[in-house]
Amino acid sequence: MSYYFDKQIDTESKEVTTRAEIGGKVYTFKTDNNVFSKRGLDFGTRTLLESIDIKNISGDVLDFGCGYGPIGIYIKSNTDSIVDMVDINERAINLAKKNAEINNTFVNIFESDVYSNITKKYDFIITNPPIRVGKKVLYEILIDAKDHLKENGNLIFVINKDQGAKSVMKDMMNYYNVTLLKKNKGFFVINCQKYSKKE
Ligand SMILES: C[S@@+](CC[C@H](N)C(=O)[O-])C[C@H]1O[C@@H](n2cnc3c(N)ncnc32)[C@H](O)[C@@H]1O
Repeated sequence: MSYYFDKQIDTESKEVTTRAEIGGKVYTFKTDNNVFSKRGLDFGTRTLLESIDIKNISGDVLDFGCGYGPIGIYIKSNTDSIVDMVDINERAINLAKKNAEINNTFVNIFESDVYSNITKKYDFIITNPPIRVGKKVLYEILIDAKDHLKENGNLIFVINKDQGAKSVMKDMMNYYNVTLLKKNKGFFVINCQKYSKKE
């Protein structure tokens, strides 16, 4: 049995072509078995992307847990930022590479288990994080993000109230300057800004 957050997937591949309109542009995304939201753009991911003020996104951006690639591809298509995308799931990484090409975006996609292969610091880390991996790994992703952000860099993520959005947001206040960007049908989009050294 494989899950969408496994490194290697042992189920048969069955690619599907989906389309999604985000911010007035249509994107084509190939998805597959055992990749998150294989039927197409997830509602939480859509809420996240539609909450971001795209004009404010620039510099170095990391799409953490990129899946088949919607976040990084959307950011690269609408900004001049340098976009890295990582995931643990090899099938997702291969799809994200194909989707980047289909949507004419030049991004850098590679495997990483949490931040194991991340060597850079980012202005933005943007993620619809994996929840089913459990609280320990989720908190490693959210809290350790600050070690991979530049000073005043931002971690932006989406989480549902049924997945503990309120308590996660409260816990993040111990590590970041936290702002709620949007609440939509149970989804919370949360901005965590890294403290500057002076604070
Ligand atoms: C909720 S999905 C979001 C996928 C995609 N960004 C989207 O919005 O459709 C979370 C992603 O995190 C990945 N993931 C899970 N555990 C991970 C880990 N330890 N390191 C890196 N990525 C991981 C999963 O494989 C999955 O693709």
